[in-house]
Amino acid sequence: MPEFQTSPGMRDILPPESARWRRFVGEFAAVVGAAGYGQVIPPLLEDLGVFTRVGEATDIVTKEMYDFVDKGERHVALRPEQTASVCRAFVQHRPTTPWKVWYSGPNFRYEKPQRGRYRQFDQVGIEVLGADDPYLDVEVIALGWEFYARLGLRRVRLVLNSLGEPADRAGYVEALRAHFEANLHLLSSESVVTLAKNPLRVLDSKREQDAPLIASAPVIADHYSPEAAAHFTAVQTGLGALGIPFDIDGTLVRGLDYYRRTTFEFQGLTLDSAQNALGGGGRYDGLVESLGGPPTHGVGFALGLDRTLLACDDEGVFGAPSVAVDAFVVDTTGGLEALRITAELRAAGFRADRAYEGRSMKSQMKLADRSGAPIALIIGSNELDAGTVVLRPLRDGRDQYAVPRTELLDHLTKAIT
Ligand code: HAM
Repeated sequence: MPEFQTSPGMRDILPPESARWRRFVGEFAAVVGAAGYGQVIPPLLEDLGVFTRVGEATDIVTKEMYDFVDKGERHVALRPEQTASVCRAFVQHRPTTPWKVWYSGPNFRYEKPQRGRYRQFDQVGIEVLGADDPYLDVEVIALGWEFYARLGLRRVRLVLNSLGEPADRAGYVEALRAHFEANLHLLSSESVVTLAKNPLRVLDSKREQDAPLIASAPVIADHYSPEAAAHFTAVQTGLGALGIPFDIDGTLVRGLDYYRRTTFEFQGLTLDSAQNALGGGGRYDGLVESLGGPPTHGVGFALGLDRTLLACDDEGVFGAPSVAVDAFVVDTTGGLEALRITAELRAAGFRADRAYEGRSMKSQMKLADRSGAPIALIIGSNELDAGTVVLRPLRDGRDQYAVPRTELLDHLTKAIT
């Protein structure tokens, strides 16, 4: 075994999988770009405080942060997510509102690694700051939905909830606390600990022992103010108008504390229930303020790239794109011709590769085959003297033929289209 390997929960993404990642982000950029979102690229590292504002009661912040003191004595952290960074950027740069942005890139959480759960994982996401409109919530959700459709995924379920206004949520949290405290002896020991920190998160428990108490718990819908109820109804009406199916789940609280009103999750029905969240988001009015900015509405989502690709594998969609070149140059005259021809082809927009180290014809033909190229361009000493190149089709059994070197580009274009 080599001395150095990737750390637990971290992976090398190699070709051709890496090409699939790039295409994933490209498709996402196309979907959200068409809706007026511009890209924001925040740094991977922020002052720790940016993330602690996300919520002191979430595991992501209290247990899973990669934080350290840097050489300038600043306490910094690798970002566990990007919503807080986007809000910090908003406060710092004060762009005009509504500010519609998208992002992609890695995040870091010190979690227990397993299939679909990594310590470095990628997300794509959008955030809109400075607009309070239930139909904006719908736009955000619809863009996630459309993106999944674009990937070809069918087995995705949209789960929707509203956590109400902060006061509604506070009233609900107290009702929940009272319910669980009255039945403390029935709760799992892990949930007893969670209860002390954040009663809402007990609803997240997947432990069988907690299921009956969660089922009999008070429901958030009984605590909505008229405004929160109207907002939630409008979100549902908007989703209905776009024909997007959803299930309401009053226990959907999500892992971050900043949510108010709308929350949602996209679940992959082919994945294990513990890791089936392909993505999620919601409204977080108040987060910008907690980072020192003016009162500002916010809504957005982040989709997990790693998990979404696992779902794509399960459904047999959105495979790795072909990385094959258009032509493979086989040169048995020393390699200088291959150097010239590949440069010429690439300059003309073809994808071209070649062999190195003066290999034999047989060995070069093997590489040509492995390259996936439909055509080999062969130059031996006869061709060099005659000023020709032999085009040998590699995939369809057609005969090879020689063309003048000066007409190579035209003939290659014809041969591969
Ligand atoms: P989150 O639910 O923590 O939300 O993460 C969003 C998605 O990232 C998850 O649904 C999942 O697909 C993926 N994910 C999270 N942790 C891991 C992990 N350890 N390994 C693999 N994938 C993971 C947020 O991050 C919020 N910032 C979303 C948001 C944006 N809310 C409003 N705006």
